[in-house]
Amino acid sequence: MTRILVATRNPGKLREFEEALAPEGIEIVGLDALADAPIVRETGSSFDENARIKAEACSARTDLSVLADDSGLEVDALGGEPGVRSARYGGEGLDDAGRCRLVLEKLAGVPRERRRARFRCALALARGGRTIANFEGTVEGVILEEPRGENGFGYDPIFFHEGAGRAFAELSRAEKRALSHRGRALDGVRRYWRYLSGR
Ligand code: IMP
Repeated sequence: MTRILVATRNPGKLREFEEALAPEGIEIVGLDALADAPIVRETGSSFDENARIKAEACSARTDLSVLADDSGLEVDALGGEPGVRSARYGGEGLDDAGRCRLVLEKLAGVPRERRRARFRCALALARGGRTIANFEGTVEGVILEEPRGENGFGYDPIFFHEGAGRAFAELSRAEKRALSHRGRALDGVRRYWRYLSGR
């Protein structure tokens, strides 16, 4: 069994990593396993850069391999916003619902054909302070006029997936995992791991 430290304390994310990587014989531990976890500021200008910053900072303090992720929503009509600022879009005072409302307000009057958006997820795998591999996953969609569904988190209620015919917040966990940016990036990690272990 190989152990990988995933540089997050978010239980939802940890569960997604576990579900994807346990079948590969990989045991996941969270950031809580690191006694002196660094406080990392996401100062990069891309998801990929932020994932590397986190993975490298954490892997400098452990013998384990470290996987770090950064993700967010890009809306074409907003010039790619919220982008790397997805988690804090609109300032600290807003919660997930407030951030969804802000995006909807900014898109008021924008017709459906100009409401294209995508979720992006970058993953970096690092050892001893250096990145050894990067993975990316994206999923295309359209921003709805109003929130729909109760599942998921973040911008899921306003993100409509045309193939599924539903908002991300209307999908089950398994359905979302099969389509999502994070699920696709994790597919890349799985393929890489199989390649390394000669399978
Ligand atoms: P981070 O990757 O934890 O830095 O945060 C990314 C932010 O992007 C989250 O706080 C959400 O607002 C948004 N985001 C990332 N992935 C998803 C998703 O799967 N659904 C909805 N929102 C997401």
